[in-house]
Amino acid sequence: MSMNVVESGKIIGAEVLGVDLAGPLEMSTFAELERHFYDRSVLCIRDQDLSPEALVNFAGRFGEVDRHFLSHYTHPEHANVLIISNIQENGRDIGYADAGRVWHSDGSYLQRPVGVSMLYAIEVPEENGQVLGRTQFASAWAAYDGLSDALKARIDGLEAVHQVAGRRKAIGTGQQRDRVIHEQQPEAIHPLVRTHPYTGRKYLFVTKGECQRVNGMDVDEGLSLIESLADEIPRPEYRYVHNWRVGDLLMWDNRAVQHLASFDYQWPKHRRLMHRVTVSEPLP
Ligand SMILES: [Fe+2]
Repeated sequence: MSMNVVESGKIIGAEVLGVDLAGPLEMSTFAELERHFYDRSVLCIRDQDLSPEALVNFAGRFGEVDRHFLSHYTHPEHANVLIISNIQENGRDIGYADAGRVWHSDGSYLQRPVGVSMLYAIEVPEENGQVLGRTQFASAWAAYDGLSDALKARIDGLEAVHQVAGRRKAIGTGQQRDRVIHEQQPEAIHPLVRTHPYTGRKYLFVTKGECQRVNGMDVDEGLSLIESLADEIPRPEYRYVHNWRVGDLLMWDNRAVQHLASFDYQWPKHRRLMHRVTVSEPLP
């Protein structure tokens, strides 16, 4: 089997065919995948058949696999696998049904944010031949590159305070017990502009949901700055939209892109089931 990489035609995103992630993956094949991943920021590796172990093993080649703080949604036998689903059994959600309602970078609120996220599609909702639950991505490095020199100079060295409950408070969705757990998570401080450890590209690291304030700045002034920077990221020219297929292993680089889920599907008419594994950023 030989690897075939098809770029999306956008500035981010590519589809990979002809790779079996469940089998032994040669160093050279992995190195090629890794190169395409950091080059394209979002990769969809099609036609996979992955057990939770195989998914965690593959993710582990990119760094340290972490665990989500919503531990009641993790796989019963694999604590590193978070179940993302709208399916209900016995009146309860079997997984996290409310992830990704606003543009964000996974785990930006952690001291050590998520570097790489992977979602493996087991059930994908469709209606009238149309895929539902598409995921949108937008380039945070293209957004930085597009800023004026004056704005780049203004934000150089500034830091924002991130807290996961921010966006929950703002939009008020999700389960009540999850909201309580969100509120209990600590804050984290990160620069507004960061430099990617592998590509060397600078990128914007601000989200309207999680960023509570800018250190050393009046709260309103800081939030206004965060909003205006965050709005630069999801410009149409910086976007890629992923249409899911069963067997997709979609992986994205949270230092290069932000993402947004869509909620155009509804239980019990539609079923969506995915396994998510995340890899922490490398230690400094
Ligand atoms: Fe996410």
